[in-house]
Amino acid sequence: MRSYLTDWRNAFRGKAALVVRPATTEEVAAVVRLCHAAEVSLVPQGGNTGLCGGSMPDDSGRQVVLSLTRMARIREVDPANATVTVEAGVVLQRLQEAAAEAGRLFPLSLGAEGSCTVGGNLATNAGGTAVLRYGNMRDLVLGLEVVLPDGTVWNGLRSLRKDNTGYDLKHLFIGSEGTLGVITAAVLKLFPALRSQATAWVALPSTEAALALIGIMRDLGGDRLTGFEMMSRQSVEFVLRHVAGCTDPFAQTHPWYVLIELGDTLPDAALGDILETALGEAFEQGLVLDAAIATSEARVAALWHLREGISEAQNHEGPSLKHDISVPVSSIPAFIERADAALQEGFPGVRIVCYGHVGDGNLHYNISKPVGAEDASFKACAEAIMHAVYEVVAAFNGSISAEHGLGQSKHHAAALYKDALELSLMKSIKQLLDPKGLMNPGKIFVS
Ligand code: FAD
Ligand code: MLT
Ligand code: ZN
Repeated sequence: MRSYLTDWRNAFRGKAALVVRPATTEEVAAVVRLCHAAEVSLVPQGGNTGLCGGSMPDDSGRQVVLSLTRMARIREVDPANATVTVEAGVVLQRLQEAAAEAGRLFPLSLGAEGSCTVGGNLATNAGGTAVLRYGNMRDLVLGLEVVLPDGTVWNGLRSLRKDNTGYDLKHLFIGSEGTLGVITAAVLKLFPALRSQATAWVALPSTEAALALIGIMRDLGGDRLTGFEMMSRQSVEFVLRHVAGCTDPFAQTHPWYVLIELGDTLPDAALGDILETALGEAFEQGLVLDAAIATSEARVAALWHLREGISEAQNHEGPSLKHDISVPVSSIPAFIERADAALQEGFPGVRIVCYGHVGDGNLHYNISKPVGAEDASFKACAEAIMHAVYEVVAAFNGSISAEHGLGQSKHHAAALYKDALELSLMKSIKQLLDPKGLMNPGKIFVS
């Protein structure tokens, strides 16, 4: 059972009475019915790439892990309706490939796409690198099939773009992290395939310059802007140190970088010209220090590797604290300045690995231990570091979890930083759907 009882980072471990791997909705419902009758709690699990312990059982050894990975069928592609119906265990990359085979695009894209599943993406309302243009997972869903906590199957697999017949129940389950039911299938939106793309790696003097540059890119590129990822030098240095095959695009080091991607459905959209014009304007305004436009698919892949290798690289630097925060886009420079100052004053030497989906206001403000520090002494400060960061998030009316969810690592913080009325309404919904508290207990809410 070992691979089901630890997560991608090896940061969480649990025990389980059983791991069950049903292959159909009926089999999932039968398992859930049995657990409901016997009052045994269940932990739904997809690719186990979630970063806050949501898919891990507790250490009682009495919970059942319900892995969806055998529910891996693409049930239907409907090009005319621009939809695809998939089962929860389909790996995201497989879904992207199936869409491409049908001449369409499924736009959700993230570093773990080779192993995360559609069910996990739905249950965490995953974000990633194309939210700027296509939205979060929530924006990509038309219908859901869910096994409710008593084993009843809700067939909400509608493929309608308009349906105003009361409350839109699918949104309850999206982002519910397995606490309200088991998602078994979904109807998802497809988009026109992108036939032109242009990608650049750009060095910047400051985070203010990143905001000004995204403004220029939007003015000139409109909604062709599909990606705008920002990384600090510290983040890039970790990747260069630990991820095989990565090289620095520039001879000199710079404080900040952005990876920009434009996409268009026309095969000859001249996106390189748009990029060059925008970067030229930015150079004139002193916003850009250096820039490299990728000229081959291999180069594009290498630049994305440099960005997407950050999570893996940080694992090699010892224990780290993940803060997946969001603030209004316009507050990003001030947030970073204030949070950096708070940490430098309170916890000298910690290494701030700040990067993320800056166009969405979502930063991964991750912290690695000081060079040479004992793991234990760093871990002893974890709570205090987290609060220092979240106090600054709160000062900017931000969120302590922009895309990864709360799981078991942020539910305590949510109890402190989330609006009390909202939390109380959420608990009422949980009580209504899962009165016995058997669906992924100990996640989202402090039990
Ligand atoms: P799991 O980790 O297995 O589960 C996550 C949660 O969903 C758990 O609470 C689990 O109980 C619940 N769950 C899983 N399947 C179901 C189901 N069928 N029904 C009900 N509940 C279910 N996330 C982002 O949003 N954006 C990123 O850019 C991003 N980048 C990442 C990069 C790396 C390198 C890694 C390792 C992770 C990254 N993540 C990112 C986090 C993670 O990949 C996503 O949260 C993903 O959606 C989780 O999918 P999974 O199948 O692995 O889910
Ligand atoms: C990413 O965008 O790379 C991940 O969501 C961040 C992380 O691993 O902390
Ligand atoms: Zn992310």
